[in-house]
Amino acid sequence: MHKITLIPGDGIGPEITDAVKSIIAASGVDVLWDVQEVGQKALQIYGNPLPDVAIESIKANKIALKGPVTTQIGKGFKSINVTLRQTFDLYANIRPVKSLPGVKTPFSDVDMVIFRENTEDLYAGIENVINEDRVEAIKVITRKASRRIAEKAFEYARQNNRKKVTAVHKANIMKKSDGLFLEETRRTADKYSDIAYDELIVDNTCMKLVQQPEKFDVIVTENLYGDIISDLCAGLVGGLGVVPGMNVGEDYMIFEAVHGSAPDIAGKNIANPLALLMSSVEMLKVIGETRAANSIQTAIYKLLEDGKHLTPDLGGSATTSEMTQELCRLVAN
Ligand code: NAI
Ligand code: MG
Repeated sequence: MHKITLIPGDGIGPEITDAVKSIIAASGVDVLWDVQEVGQKALQIYGNPLPDVAIESIKANKIALKGPVTTQIGKGFKSINVTLRQTFDLYANIRPVKSLPGVKTPFSDVDMVIFRENTEDLYAGIENVINEDRVEAIKVITRKASRRIAEKAFEYARQNNRKKVTAVHKANIMKKSDGLFLEETRRTADKYSDIAYDELIVDNTCMKLVQQPEKFDVIVTENLYGDIISDLCAGLVGGLGVVPGMNVGEDYMIFEAVHGSAPDIAGKNIANPLALLMSSVEMLKVIGETRAANSIQTAIYKLLEDGKHLTPDLGGSATTSEMTQELCRLVAN
């Protein structure tokens, strides 16, 4: 029996976490879900969008599966996602982006993994209102955080038979901060002579990603660039409904999709649960449930190839429940 914190979250979160729970149940893995409200519902119940009970639950279980949480634009409380990543020092945000069978896109052979630094950069949240007409936001880059994300990316490349790591930056403009980041990626590259290494400026990266995405292998980058290029890369393989993610530190892990709470489709039973399901496949591997992970992975590929139970974002007309039922059937078989 595995005890895992489950955060349903906001918007489409409850729909997709329910879907994933039932598919994992169909795979036969015994999980005791420690359900914790975070976000709007927690705000109503506890008067705090990130209550201590949720933090304590993750501390105790060390592992969480998380639905998206809404963050208001330009007002309201500090992002819960950012707070969680900082609280548990989840310094690596790892996002595999891979072409999928049956999903029509201009590319068929995208296969890359983005390593996004997850604790600092402009996400440090240091914004100073100097006066009514001037606000200054501070970008924080440290040697330590740059080094550990670089090491994580190179180590992953070595373990997973990847050939190349590309550091994405803007050190031509931010010479000192992005310069420091590059110092550490270069130093790490020197230690991994079996892995090729190159560097690319972020804007040029965006152009190359949409022209020749198959040329990319492992990308290592800072927090903000990583956030933006992750959504771009999701667009290369079928959208945000099919890109998983994990937030990893030394002691804790939070698995979640790249996408947000999708308020435009929330409550309509049409959200695609695959991105969160793919994140949960990674989670099952980490907790040693390799067989279930493989069987869910196989079910996802069968479902996509078959093409009959796809949600609207993938060009189909199935509901979340219909897609989930089909996945449960495939997993149980
Ligand atoms: P979003 O990712 O929620 O949605 C972008 C577009 O993709 C929308 O059209 C949405 O319908 C679609 N989409 C996203 N996930 C989908 C899925 N599983 N199936 C089908 N379609 C899907 O991004 P948006 O609208 O910028 O953000 C909404 C809220 O989510 C914001 O409050 C934002 O702060 C929050 N957010 C939370 C994240 C997290 O909890 N990790 C990550 C990103 C955003
Ligand atoms: Mg994002």
